[in-house]
Amino acid sequence: MRTFSIISALALSIYLISGCAKPGFDVNLYSDEDYEMMSEYINIPQALDEYDLFFPSYYRRTSTSIDDRVATVGRVLFYDKNLSKDRSVSCASCHEQNIAFSDSKAFSEGIEGKTTLRNSIALGSVFSFQEYYGPSRIPFFWDNRAESVEDQSEQTFANKNEMGMEMHEVLGRVLEQPYYQPLFESAFKEEVITRDMVLQAISVFVNSIGSFDSKFDQELAKKHTSGFASNVAQSAEMDFEGFTAAENRGKSIYMANCSSCHSADMGAPSVRSANNGLSTSYEDLGLGEHSPLDSNEGLFKVPTLRNIALTGPYMHDGSIETLSDVIDHYSEGIQDYKNLSQDLKKSDGSPKNLNLSENNKSDLLAFLHTLTDESLLVNERFSDPFID
Ligand code: HEC
Ligand code: HEC
Repeated sequence: MRTFSIISALALSIYLISGCAKPGFDVNLYSDEDYEMMSEYINIPQALDEYDLFFPSYYRRTSTSIDDRVATVGRVLFYDKNLSKDRSVSCASCHEQNIAFSDSKAFSEGIEGKTTLRNSIALGSVFSFQEYYGPSRIPFFWDNRAESVEDQSEQTFANKNEMGMEMHEVLGRVLEQPYYQPLFESAFKEEVITRDMVLQAISVFVNSIGSFDSKFDQELAKKHTSGFASNVAQSAEMDFEGFTAAENRGKSIYMANCSSCHSADMGAPSVRSANNGLSTSYEDLGLGEHSPLDSNEGLFKVPTLRNIALTGPYMHDGSIETLSDVIDHYSEGIQDYKNLSQDLKKSDGSPKNLNLSENNKSDLLAFLHTLTDESLLVNERFSDPFID
């Protein structure tokens, strides 16, 4: 009796000590046997990664909790080329981490060497639309046609130029790969894998890709300490101590001429879509493609400018090569299109070209470079887990 209680007390303390080695963590997510098998294909941590998002002080909400196990499944799916028809393309092929989850081509390469009809969109701040802005969030794609990442992903898988797969085929490919069973079981606590789980996992991963550690974010957080989101724009307009004089001058130009659409805090854009006068006629009608109203023609999503220095070429059609060229566009290239936004028109209705001096242009360029978040580009949680 006595020996028994000593042994159990000993066992209990060993259990407690080992359990306490990593406080708050499940020691192992997968059995040793599964982990060994998975390690032949992918390199993911045996214990949990921390995917929770912590927002800067100037966001209305401070954090959002993310299920690490589900995000980990999403990470593997995001990088898995087996999920495209000819196994040549994954989500990451057109959304590369080292360039803020965009790609460097005007039109991306999909399966069988086909090309997309539009320029890839950088993913570094999708969260702000999906999570933070709740039901009134900004829909996805250049023409706002997808309501959620689930919806977007299903369309992307099925797109004949992108991945060429219906969801039942995607699920079939998932079931073929031995590493998914333990991944999904650990995340969803069920043996059966469904298409909804696949879409949910991708969505959770994509929404966890937060990017708010740029120089601009750091400086705005220092300026805006009140914790109220309502007057962030005012804080963003004040000079930042950590900025150079050129960056501050560029910021003023931005706040006066660009923030009415692209937002003052680089969060959700102030308007969902607009026409910025790239051309006098549009072959791709943007919103007008699926909501055929005359007033929707030529309207495109107002994209985030986070990490903008990395994500060229620019615009829905990749028609503008460099950031300096973009500045030239707003300075002297705005075209008189029928649906050109009011914000880019003079009172007589003609295009309001900003006519910036060379100094103004280089100041604005310096400001746009403060929006780059280097930490996003190397964060291991978002990186390619595949071994080869
Ligand atoms: C062949 C290239 C390609 C592949 C593969 C690809 N994308 Fe995209 N992605 C694009 C292009 C191009 C757009 C813009 C399309 C449009 O607006 O019509 C886009 C847009 C998006 C958007 C919208 C972002 C926004 O702010 O509106 C999200 C999210 C996204 N992709 C995630 C994914 C995910 C997840 C996968 C994998 C399931 C994926 N993409 C695979 C090229 C690709
Ligand atoms: C009327 C609203 C509006 C204003 C004002 C505006 N933009 Fe834009 N911007 C847009 C829209 C809409 C697009 C996408 C257009 C397209 O692809 O057809 C865009 C695209 C861009 C892009 C390319 C983004 C990408 O991912 O390809 C950059 C960079 C940009 N704008 C910078 C600026 C700067 C700098 C200013 C101020 C000088 C400015 N914008 C003013 C609406 C606006």
